[in-house]
Amino acid sequence: MSKTATLEYNGVKYEFPVTVGTENEIAMDIKTLRAQSGMITLDPGYKNTGSCESAITYLDGEKGILRYRGYTIEELAEKADFLEVAYLLIFGELPTRVQLDQFHEDIKDQSVVDEDMKKILDSFPKSAHPMGVLASLTSALIAFNPSSVNVTSEEDMYRAIVKLLAKFPVLVAWTLRKKEGLPLDYGDDTLGYVENVAKMMFKKPNKEYKKNDIVINALDKLLILHADHEQNCSTSTVRMVGSSHAGLFASISAGISALWGPLHGGANQAVIEMLEGIKADGGDTKKYMAKAKDKNDPFRLMGFGHRVYKNFDPRARIIKKAADEVLSDLGVNDPILEIAKSLEKEALEDQYFIDRKLYPNVDFYSGIIYRALGIPTEMFTVMFALGRLPGWIAQWREMRLKDEPIGRPRQVYIGENQRTFVDIDQR
Ligand code: CMC
Repeated sequence: MSKTATLEYNGVKYEFPVTVGTENEIAMDIKTLRAQSGMITLDPGYKNTGSCESAITYLDGEKGILRYRGYTIEELAEKADFLEVAYLLIFGELPTRVQLDQFHEDIKDQSVVDEDMKKILDSFPKSAHPMGVLASLTSALIAFNPSSVNVTSEEDMYRAIVKLLAKFPVLVAWTLRKKEGLPLDYGDDTLGYVENVAKMMFKKPNKEYKKNDIVINALDKLLILHADHEQNCSTSTVRMVGSSHAGLFASISAGISALWGPLHGGANQAVIEMLEGIKADGGDTKKYMAKAKDKNDPFRLMGFGHRVYKNFDPRARIIKKAADEVLSDLGVNDPILEIAKSLEKEALEDQYFIDRKLYPNVDFYSGIIYRALGIPTEMFTVMFALGRLPGWIAQWREMRLKDEPIGRPRQVYIGENQRTFVDIDQR
């Protein structure tokens, strides 16, 4: 394989080195493009642009492969727990029992949030969207933990990571409890990480909390499936913000805002709202299939399509199976599951979707499980954020350890050329 790529423009040839990843992904390294040729590349949406070299997550959209640090998502979802996966993503190796216990102890040590944070939460209306609340609270954490991380110190870095993994679930739970008008409690450090999150979210003040293994296992699986997805919109945001040497919490807060949009993590809420809408409209899935294909109609089939997956989303396969199991185990009969299955079947047989390689993505069935677990629709993207947290942290850490340059794309200017100012009375 040639180690250089040649670009020709106006009769002049420019040579660029070619980088090959461990899974044979080929990239033309254009770091010297502008210096050599005066040209830049134009790639809206970064569809062809690799922003970094990364050793965290591997994704093959054609074959439907997703691996964290080399381990398949199927195996991790079946055999690992969320904290183990978090450790793997952030530090690169599966932890030993001793390492995992220590990691968990360190997290538990930091799992109290400054009581003044409650005053901030109190000032939000109950109607506020949980994602806005979560992004604000995560930003507010900076005010209570102002020292910036010294990235040359592994110990400093570790402390910041542990703090965030400890306090974030409390904020997630408080976001839900505020919405539901419940008292803001802390966790129980005798419990596992995910079990503790579930208790913080669901515990009622007048009832003893009873652990439900079906709920814990389903949550664990969902969080693992969402834990990282290489350079998606929110992760790229985290890396971009972090590249200015803004702190970890500030970078994560920006990532939460990026995740909120319905084209990204917000799709899980949008899917349920869409399925509810179809049900309320008589359950005519064909009508909505037609709307999704109509170029004059802005309606899209939410939970369908992916920038990278062009065959199937391996996470969606696992989630679909889990949705069936969880609903049956919990004895929940949700009519929108049937609507979702009909839509999927019709879409997979429809030429429009086949031609464009549109398949159900991770968000198509996840909301159905969250709903069965008793989580309100507006909280779904918050749950995605909780799952994605280790991925964001891992990507931020990787970027800071490599001391990557500040993210600063260029543009092709298409505005007015220089003009002379016209005084306001003469316009
Ligand atoms: N329904 C109908 N048509 C669609 C859909 C859809 N869900 N998704 C893509 N298309 C069409 C699109 O109109 C375009 O058609 P044409 O070539 O005729 O103009 C073609 O498929 C390619 O779409 P695109 O928008 O250029 O593709 P993209 O890679 O820029 O967008 C996407 C990917 C995920 C934003 C998009 O598929 C979408 O909007 N899906 C619905 C939202 C969704 O489920 N998002 C969650 C993504 S997975 C979780 C996550 O990563 O956060």
